[in-house]
Amino acid sequence: MAEIRRAIGLMSGTSLDGVDVALIDTDGERIAAFGRAKTFPYDEPDRQVFRQAFEEARALTDRTARPGVLAEAETLVTLRHAEAVEAFLAGERTEARAVDVVGFHGQTVFHDPARALTVQIGDGQRLADRLRIPVVWDFRAADMAAGGQGAPLASVFHRALAETAGRAAPLLFLNIGGVANVTFVGGDDVLIAFDTGPGNGLLDDWTRARTGKPFDADGRLAASGRPSETILEELLSNPYFTLPPPKSLDRDTFSMERLAGLSAADGAATLLQFTALSIAASIALLPERPNACFASGGGRHNKEMMRAISGALAGIPLQPIEALGFDGDATEAQAFAFLAARAIDGKPLSYPLTTGVPRPLSGGRISRPATSG
Ligand SMILES: Nc1ncnc2c1ncn2[C@@H]1O[C@H](COP(=O)(O)OP(=O)(O)OP(=O)(O)O)[C@@H](O)[C@H]1O
Ligand SMILES: [Mg+2]
Repeated sequence: MAEIRRAIGLMSGTSLDGVDVALIDTDGERIAAFGRAKTFPYDEPDRQVFRQAFEEARALTDRTARPGVLAEAETLVTLRHAEAVEAFLAGERTEARAVDVVGFHGQTVFHDPARALTVQIGDGQRLADRLRIPVVWDFRAADMAAGGQGAPLASVFHRALAETAGRAAPLLFLNIGGVANVTFVGGDDVLIAFDTGPGNGLLDDWTRARTGKPFDADGRLAASGRPSETILEELLSNPYFTLPPPKSLDRDTFSMERLAGLSAADGAATLLQFTALSIAASIALLPERPNACFASGGGRHNKEMMRAISGALAGIPLQPIEALGFDGDATEAQAFAFLAARAIDGKPLSYPLTTGVPRPLSGGRISRPATSG
């Protein structure tokens, strides 16, 4: 039996809302205990640096190159994660040496499986040296090098959650971040995962451009408009939605150009429906209809979005993952704590049906703190 480790997971999603920190105890198979979790928000100047990094990353051809603003952005990502862990541990009255491993996802600035390129910024060795805790990082590289999509990676953790909750398969886990993704936990150890399409990313961008607010709180803007059926139909005719999994997306795969003529409210309503209908379309790609769907990620706070998804799921009950007793704001960070514990033992992180790797594959780079004196 593998040893139980105390693991911290760190996630900074494409929404750029902040660094999520979560603590769990795990042997990489089961979750022995859930610790606390906390989000440390970025401030606006940080977000501007990261948005600039998204722009400049489009020109990258080498995932390790850091031209222009990318070098500054990487230093900033590492620093903000270090500060977040230090503040988290201080709040927990826990010392760094009580933590066995940190799973550091970093910040994705570019992801395009078609070009076999996925770029996460953040320096795991520097983080390990500063925190004096071993850090597992660069989780997506090995998967993509082996021919996988490099995403989504949380599926093994979702499977562990299904076991912990003792819920009968088939179940669906839905994470609504910048992009939305699902994990299907079927009977007979079937595990399927893929990105379904947009999550909050498009709606966030639209809301920011049209109202100056960072996101459409509770979906109130969308609720006040009417979706354009013509544009919705066009958006949903994208061949991505009928493509069999595994498959993954960049945050910027879908463009908002076609919405330019719409009012702020109608554009938001269209994008919200786009997210809901593309999530529902994913059910047709599964081998079996799930008996329930549990949502994590920031999008589950959007009441209008949840209503729309619920309606589109045609009878599959949708609930926030809290219904199983878990914290949906911490799920992704917990997943990277879990993946770090698995990586230390060389266990698989991804599978043929979760990312398209030819065989179950481990991953992540392991950086141990430099010893001083
Ligand atoms: N009350 C709310 N109403 C509407 N939307 C909300 C609310 N609270 C959070 N959100 C949405 O959740 C987003 C943040 O979600 P989350 O942190 O899961 O995404 P992320 O950081 O991009 O992660 P991922 O890596 O999964 O894409 C915000 O940008 C916003 O769109
Ligand atoms: Mg986030």
